[in-house]
Amino acid sequence: MQVIDNLETIRAQASGWRLAGESICVVPTMGALHAGHMSLVEIARAHADRVVAWIFVNPKQFENPEDLAKYPSHMEADIAKLQAAGVDALYAPTPDQIYPEGFATTVSIAGVSEGLCGAGRPGHFDGVATVVTKIFTQTQADCATFGEKDYQQLQVVKRLVADLNLPIDILPCETVRETDGLALSSRNERLSDTDRAIAPALHGALQAASARLRDGEAPGPVIERAKAEIEAAGFTRVEYLELRAARDLAPFKDLDEPARLLVAAHLGKVRLIDNIPV
Ligand code: PAJ
Repeated sequence: MQVIDNLETIRAQASGWRLAGESICVVPTMGALHAGHMSLVEIARAHADRVVAWIFVNPKQFENPEDLAKYPSHMEADIAKLQAAGVDALYAPTPDQIYPEGFATTVSIAGVSEGLCGAGRPGHFDGVATVVTKIFTQTQADCATFGEKDYQQLQVVKRLVADLNLPIDILPCETVRETDGLALSSRNERLSDTDRAIAPALHGALQAASARLRDGEAPGPVIERAKAEIEAAGFTRVEYLELRAARDLAPFKDLDEPARLLVAAHLGKVRLIDNIPV
């Protein structure tokens, strides 16, 4: 596996593959790779001749400098995992490859970026959309994998691709979980032992709420009860717990169309998100 840190080299490599008629799938990540990320790699491998993994801790999508400073980095272990998974190239650009001096462009997507995580993390999805645009243009990939774990991010990326006619297919990947239901996340490693034992209650509350909704209970009380269950389990605060249309995150109307329950909650100093279909 090649490890590349500059645009010129990834461009030359990608052009070579394309000239040879080979397709490329990119797996965008911020590193500290776990089995969730590796499932994206598997899906990428099944869909393209060449797989490029991307690792860049994107400062523009962190609204809180403390969160950015604490973001885990395990580059050596990441390289070993990607190599073992048969990835063709790791592109881990230096910051100047992404944000050269004078960088002044922001890609901003209305509607789907608003509310949910967009409300609690102002500017976050602008940072994501801007870097994702660069991921696509720098790697010249034919497809890209994104996890349903970050469901709103996935919808933002789909909107971006549709609105700008970007020639890339977005492949969504189901959330990979621990056996107790906790969604894998790089942030889980910051949980204390006590909080780690509390954390699966988030998924538990979503599952119970989804079952109640399918049984025909009214959304309002179901959501209030799920929030109370999460707080009773020991979470410090529920930032949001909402029912939305699965396709575009529009306000929920009825269960005739697929819906999604989405949650963000704080456990100690760690913010966890999760979502499930209804
Ligand atoms: P990161 O948080 O590293 O996640 C990279 C990708 O892995 C995302 O598509 C995310 O949804 C997916 N992922 C994370 N945990 C997962 C799990 N448990 N199961 C399945 N997929 C999972 O998301 C980002 O980085 C950044 O915003 C990025 C898109 C790279 C732009 O900077």
